[in-house]
Amino acid sequence: MSTQDRPRPMFSRYYARLSERLDAEGLGALRAELLAGLTGQVVEIGCGNGRNFAHYPPAVTGVVAVEPEPYLRELATRAAAGAAVPISVRPGTAARLPLPDGGADAAVLCLVMCSLPDRAAALAEVRRVLRPGGTLRFLEHTLAGTRGLRIAQRVADATLWPLLTGGCHTATEPVAEIERAGFEITRLRRLRFPDRRLTQPSTPHVLGRARSPRP
Ligand SMILES: C[S@@+](CC[C@H](N)C(=O)[O-])C[C@H]1O[C@@H](n2cnc3c(N)ncnc32)[C@H](O)[C@@H]1O
Repeated sequence: MSTQDRPRPMFSRYYARLSERLDAEGLGALRAELLAGLTGQVVEIGCGNGRNFAHYPPAVTGVVAVEPEPYLRELATRAAAGAAVPISVRPGTAARLPLPDGGADAAVLCLVMCSLPDRAAALAEVRRVLRPGGTLRFLEHTLAGTRGLRIAQRVADATLWPLLTGGCHTATEPVAEIERAGFEITRLRRLRFPDRRLTQPSTPHVLGRARSPRP
């Protein structure tokens, strides 16, 4: 057990099953889109049970994957053993990534920003470990485009939603926060997921790429 561990025994077991179902419903294809074309050294923040690992392209030379929840980390460690690229799963949080300044060519944030206690600090840490011009790939919940759903998101966030979903808050604006952290958005797709089910606070997503500034 690491001092940075954040055990969530009920959520982690629920998420391990849910993530398999969501991947079959189309999240797996979105993960592949998220990671397509990556090369070199990658850092993945909050890797959960490692559902992205099978989608890393062969040009990735190594992945350092950080996960603070012990049960999910154990599952991720097993998933890493079967991956086609070398993946090292580590304890830790977004607040302090185990890489030197500029040590990564790419960083991956997948369904994690919504659970971070300090997103600005996490993005500053991502900037620290990314080399200048490095790429940030993100797939995240986002604030809805319609007023009604925005209200539903805010009500959900202020009541039961974070308790049931491991601290997730849906009324977040990851794209604006990524830009505020100094990144340049180079590709952006807004999408609904799961598309065919009833709209929920977590339905609106953004999938995109951003570039770390050059000095
Ligand atoms: C909804 S899950 C997504 C997991 C995984 N990224 C995926 O795509 O399936 C959110 C993850 O963020 C992790 N997390 C929560 N707080 C974190 C923090 N401060 N730093 C890093 N990861 C965190 C959780 O433990 C969990 O694994």
